[in-house]
Amino acid sequence: MTGATPSRRTIISGFAALPMAACGQKSKSQDLPTPVDPPPLKSLAPFPFGCAVSVERLSDPVYSALLTRNFSQLTAEWEMKMEYILQDDGSFRFDRPDRIAAFARDNRMRLFGHTLVWYAQDPAAFRPFDGRGPVFAGALRNYILAVVGRYRGQAVGWDVVNEPVAEQGDGLRDCLWSRNLGQVDYIRRAFDYAREADPEVPLLINDYNLESLPAKRSQFMRLVETLLKSGTPLGGIGTQSHIDVSLPAGAIGRSMRDLASFGLPIHISELDISLNRGRGPLSSDEQLRVRQVRLAKEMAEAFAALPPAQRFAFTTWGLRDKDSWLRGPKENPTPPWDAPLLFDDDGRAKPVFSAQAEGLTASAALRRPSA
Ligand code: G3I
Repeated sequence: MTGATPSRRTIISGFAALPMAACGQKSKSQDLPTPVDPPPLKSLAPFPFGCAVSVERLSDPVYSALLTRNFSQLTAEWEMKMEYILQDDGSFRFDRPDRIAAFARDNRMRLFGHTLVWYAQDPAAFRPFDGRGPVFAGALRNYILAVVGRYRGQAVGWDVVNEPVAEQGDGLRDCLWSRNLGQVDYIRRAFDYAREADPEVPLLINDYNLESLPAKRSQFMRLVETLLKSGTPLGGIGTQSHIDVSLPAGAIGRSMRDLASFGLPIHISELDISLNRGRGPLSSDEQLRVRQVRLAKEMAEAFAALPPAQRFAFTTWGLRDKDSWLRGPKENPTPPWDAPLLFDDDGRAKPVFSAQAEGLTASAALRRPSA
C-alpha cells in the first residue's frame, strides 16, 4: 500500500494552498483548472495507483521521475504477455519482464501481472499442440507455472484471463484456448494453474466496455458467478475502463455498483478517457475536454466509494498522452492526436488530473475524521 495517507484536510489544503495563479490560467470553462506542481497522485488516497509501462520508457529518467512521484504500482503494457515471453520455438524470454519487475522493486512499487491468457494472443508455439487436448493443456500449464512462478512473492495480482466476453456481450469469445479446452474450462484451468504456481496471489479476470455496454457487463457477471460457483480461485475483477467522452453520466457508477456486488476487489485496470473515440461531428474541443473532466471525476468518486477491501488499485493505461496506445504506432500516429491520460506530452498535469484528484478528495468514503 502507499505511504501514510494525509488527512483530507491536508489534501484539500494541498490544493487549496495552491494560490489560484499557481493553478495556471483557468480555461474558458471554470471547471478545467490546470494544476501546477500538484501533490503526487498516490498521496491523494489510501489505495494503489497503477500505470502501464514498458522497458523502453522506463529508461527515460524524466519519465521515471514523473512515474515514481505519482504512482505506486506498475503493469507491463505488453512485455509480460505471451507475445513477448513465449518464443516461436516454445522457449521463454524474461529479460524485459525482469527489468520491469526490478524497477518496481527498486522503487518500492507494486507489480501487477498482465496477462496470462488472452484471446488476442495465439502464439505460434502452441500450433503443434492445437487440437491435442491434454498436450495442449500441459503446454498452457507449463507456461503459466513458469510465468506466475517467476514473480511469486513480488506480483500483487494477475490478470489470469483477459477479455473473455464476446465484443457485444453475446456470449463468450471463441479463441484458440476455448476451441482446445472448452469455452469456460480454459478459464477455469488457467486460474487453477496460476493458483498452483502461487497459492497466495490474487487472481483476477479483466474485460473492457463494462461501463458502456450493459449487455457485456451482464455476460461478464454471469461468467464471474459461474466461476465462483465452481470454486475457481477468482480473487478480483478488472474493469479496464477504456472509456470515451460519449459515455453518459451515471454509467460508471452503475457499472461499479454491479461489479462490486460480488464483494471481490475491483481493479480499474486500464483507465484512459479518449477524446477522439467519442468525438461527435458537433463536439468542440472545449466540449470534449469538459466531458473528459466530468468522467475522470466520476470514475474517481465511484472507485473511492467502494469499501476499502474492494479498492484493489486504480490504474491508468499510460503516463503521458504521447505514451498512449490511442496515439497509434509511433511511426504513424493517428491524428487528431488523442489526449486520454493525466499528463500532457510534456509531463504536465492536466485538468483531468485535477478532476480525478477532486473526485478522490471530495469522497466521503475517504474522509477521515478531522485530526
Ligand atoms: O516496441 C516494439 C518495437 O520495438 C517493434 O519494432 C514493434 C514491431 O514488432 O513492436 C513494438 O511493440 C509493440 C508494443 O505494443 C509497443 O508499442 C507490440 O508489437 C504491440 O503488440 C504492443 O501492443 C500492445 C497491445 O496491448 C498488444 O499487447 C499495446 O501497447 C497495449 O496498449 C495494448 O494493451 C491492451 C491490453 O493489454 C488489454 N486491453 C486493451 C489494451 C489496448 O489494446
